[in-house]
Amino acid sequence: MVEGIKKIGVIGAGQMGTGIAQVSAMSGFETLLWDVEASSIDKSFGFMQKHLQRGLEKNKWENEFIEKTMNSLSKADSLNDFNDCDLVIEAIVENESIKFELFSSLDKICKPSCLLASNTSSIPISKIAESTNRADKVAGMHFMNPVPVMKLVEGIRGKQTSEKSFELIESVAKKMGKTFVKSNDFPGFIVNRVLMPMINEAIYALDEGVATAEDIDEAMKLGTNQPMGPLVLADFIGLDTCLAIMNVLYEGFKTEKYKPCSLLETYVSDGKLGKKTKEGFYKY
Ligand SMILES: NC(=O)c1ccc[n+]([C@@H]2O[C@H](COP(=O)([O-])OP(=O)(O)OC[C@H]3O[C@@H](n4cnc5c(N)ncnc54)[C@H](O)[C@@H]3O)[C@@H](O)[C@H]2O)c1
Repeated sequence: MVEGIKKIGVIGAGQMGTGIAQVSAMSGFETLLWDVEASSIDKSFGFMQKHLQRGLEKNKWENEFIEKTMNSLSKADSLNDFNDCDLVIEAIVENESIKFELFSSLDKICKPSCLLASNTSSIPISKIAESTNRADKVAGMHFMNPVPVMKLVEGIRGKQTSEKSFELIESVAKKMGKTFVKSNDFPGFIVNRVLMPMINEAIYALDEGVATAEDIDEAMKLGTNQPMGPLVLADFIGLDTCLAIMNVLYEGFKTEKYKPCSLLETYVSDGKLGKKTKEGFYKY
């Protein structure tokens, strides 16, 4: 099935796009990366090179593999370069109107057979698909952070995603060494529907003075056997992304249960977005 997919385009060279591009190239796909910020693409290539080098030092692979992987990767100069991709995976900022605009442009640029996938954490795939004339070829491909490490890809079938497109997406995820779970198209899908309200509740607990950030995290880590506490996880995800996801849940389900905590809004408006800005609930 996956034979039809040779060239994968990745749009957005932030933390997720970088990981997706790296895993795509490591899995033998010719991979093209682009971002509105040219400096992000260079940073992303530097990051991938460093990550691969660390794997060499840990004897995970040989120099030849790094060379092959880096040779499979190229930088796009503009969106027009995506015209010969078989699959494009979008990993740009979690903002509905910016994503809709990008998918509308991709629909005009990409060849008719090209599949378009979004790594959105929460925005309904059927709504993204509506900005194209190929809704049957649009699906969600929700990778987890950090992509080279995390095993899961949540596949989201939009209302009009065809069986064939969804099977192709699944076969690509499997070729990337991931486990593919299937979700229907509800705001937040599976992972963020469950995870984000927990993170939001931890922020309420901090805001109300239940405990310090450190103690909330330690309690959840040791008390519920999670590898890291919810506040440090929020910092890793990005507080802007967390807020955007909570807003999608809040607006999507229209219930107070999903109202983002005002402390989360304050951090975001103060530009404290977590690890990527070196400060969130913790300093980095
Ligand atoms: N951070 C996570 O843990 C996580 C996990 C799963 C999914 N996601 C989703 O992945 C997507 C990206 O998240 P991230 O954490 O990598 O964000 P990020 O802020 O690290 O990177 C986003 C990148 O998109 C670029 N960008 C913005 N608008 C663009 C446009 N119109 N065209 C091209 N590039 C554009 C930005 O310059 C930036 O480099 C979001 O939809 C997010 O919800 C994030």
